[in-house]
Formats: sequence, structure tokens, C-alpha cells
Amino acid sequence: MAAGRERAAATRAILTPCLIRPLASDRRVRAPEGEGRAPRPADGEVTTTASPILSTREVTIRFGGHVAVDHVSLDVLPTALKSIIGPNGAGKTTLFNLLSGQYRPSEGRIVFKGRDVTGWSAAARTRLGIGRSFQLTNIFPTLSVLENVRLAVQARRGLGFTAWRDYRRFSDLEDTAYGLLETVLLEGKWRAAAGALAHGEKRKLELGILLALEPEVLLLDEPTAGMSLEEVPAIIGLIERIRARRDRTILLVEHKIDMVMALSDSIAVLQNGRLIADGPPALVSASAEVQAAYFGTAPHPALSPEGRG
Ligand SMILES: Nc1ncnc2c1ncn2[C@@H]1O[C@H](COP(=O)(O)OP(=O)(O)OP(=O)(O)O)[C@@H](O)[C@H]1O
Ligand SMILES: [Mg+2]
Repeated sequence: MAAGRERAAATRAILTPCLIRPLASDRRVRAPEGEGRAPRPADGEVTTTASPILSTREVTIRFGGHVAVDHVSLDVLPTALKSIIGPNGAGKTTLFNLLSGQYRPSEGRIVFKGRDVTGWSAAARTRLGIGRSFQLTNIFPTLSVLENVRLAVQARRGLGFTAWRDYRRFSDLEDTAYGLLETVLLEGKWRAAAGALAHGEKRKLELGILLALEPEVLLLDEPTAGMSLEEVPAIIGLIERIRARRDRTILLVEHKIDMVMALSDSIAVLQNGRLIADGPPALVSASAEVQAAYFGTAPHPALSPEGRG
């Protein structure tokens, strides 16, 4: 917290000499209950009676003659963590591109909170609450870590650059940004240039920027890709923290099957663009088709009942 005090002091000295307030501790990550959100269930609990927050119906996309996503229909329950797994080239990233609006389906529908968003642009879907991280492309390398998140908070609140004129508001944005850095365990680096971060730290920053946009559904495509073995547990811990709060829905594409089994409320399996299984981890892992499609003939230890024990 020393860095937080230092940052707050620096900010106050420069911008808000009269304003002394405690730093926010990720209070903005959570929208207040009673504002269109269901009350949060206790940690570890999933709302099973709720209707899906996000659904696809027969979603299909063709690239020339190749069907990358083939009539996929799935439902994602609010506040759940659903993993999408499958071999390389199965269509996982393409499905994310369809959900986030980067691609338009050749056929089928995408429904978010009861609205058909199939024809909506990516920007409109982000505003509506479908958030996607873009593997380092949305990081400004010369700006500080804090400024990167602050800009995302600012963008989310539709403030543009007007916030610069209002020190009070600016300080509030910084507090929120700092709180988000605490959430992603990066507050110690708030002053560093984003470009100077280690790879794993950049992925944390990416998550912080994504959370700043306050999405209701987070699409995480291989959040631990390219990380060293030592960096992976921190990201898993981070996703666990976000999941445990049960105020966000998470869709996770990940090849690390142990991680998938540990984190997921449900798992959908794609193979050659088709959905071959979808359900609770225990059920999916028991499927012979999944075993064969994803791991060949030898079952992955994490998917065999003995291995999970
Ligand atoms: N824009 C595109 N144009 C042509 N083919 C594409 C395009 N995007 C994806 N594909 C093809 O669709 C298929 C699915 O690709 P996708 O990237 O979705 O797989 P994936 O499941 O994410 O794989 P990985 O685990 O390797 O990330 C692949 O055969 C890929 O070459
Ligand atoms: Mg992919």
C-alpha cells in the first residue's frame, strides 16, 4: 500500500491540493445491487435457475468453403464461468470473434440479455456489456500502467478528455483505476511505463483495462498464453478472484486443461467448428467423444475420474 500512498500523494500534490480522500479499493468493479442486477449469491454458488445472459443459436461462419464455426448453439448462465475447449483450429477464437462482433455469422443468432445482437457492431456490444481483451493491442506502451487503466475508466464513463479540466473527477478516475490495479495485483507497478512490463504483467494490465470497461461478460482467450510457468498461477488466481465475486460472467478459452477443470462451472467442447459436448465438468470429462477428440485415445489425467480425485 506504500505505492498507493505515494501515488495518492503525488496526485494530490500535482492535481488536487485540497482534496484528501482514501483510495478506492475496487469499489467500482462491482455495480451496486438493485440496479438491474440480481443479488449476488454466496461465493462458490451458481445461479442455476436464471435464464442465460448470452446464447448462440445455430451460429455458423464460413471462410470460403471452410466452416470454422458450424451450427453452434450454447447458453451461458449469468455469473458462471464457462470454458470453451477444443483442439487447435477447432473454432474457439472464431466463436469469440462472433460473440464480440468482430465477425458476423453466415447463419444463426446471438442473443445477449434477451436482445438479438447478431447484427450489432463490436463497439455497440462492448457498450452493452460484452468485453473482450485484445492481447496487448489496446495497451499504450509509453503511458504508465495507471494511465492505461484510467483512460479505460474514462472511456467507459464517456468522459473523453473533459475529465482533465475537473481535478476532482480526475482524481476519482485515478482512484478507480488504482483500485482496479489492486484487483489485478499490479498496483505495485502503477508508475511503470506499460511497455516496460514483463509479459505476464502486461496480461494482468490487459485484464485491468478490460475490467475498467465494466463488462458483464468477459471473453478471455487464452489469458495465460505466452506466460512463463511462474506467472501462470497469478493469472489463475486472478480469474478465481473475479469468478468468486459472482458479479461477472466469464467465458474462458484455455488449453491448460487442469486450469479449465479447476475453474469452470461448465465446459463446451468444439471440434472442427462443431459443439460436441456442453455441460458440467464431470459430465464433459466422462464423455468418450471428448476424450477421443481432444486428447486422442489416451485420456488426459485431469479428465479421467482417477486424475480428478
Ligand atoms: N479470417 C479467417 N479467414 C479464414 N479462415 C479463418 C479465419 N479465422 C479463422 N479461420 C480458420 O478457422 C479455423 C478455426 O480457427 P480458430 O482460430 O478459431 O481456432 P482455435 O480453436 O482458436 O485454435 P487455437 O487453439 O489454435 O487458438 C481455422 O481453420 C482457421 O484457419
Ligand atoms: Mg484460438
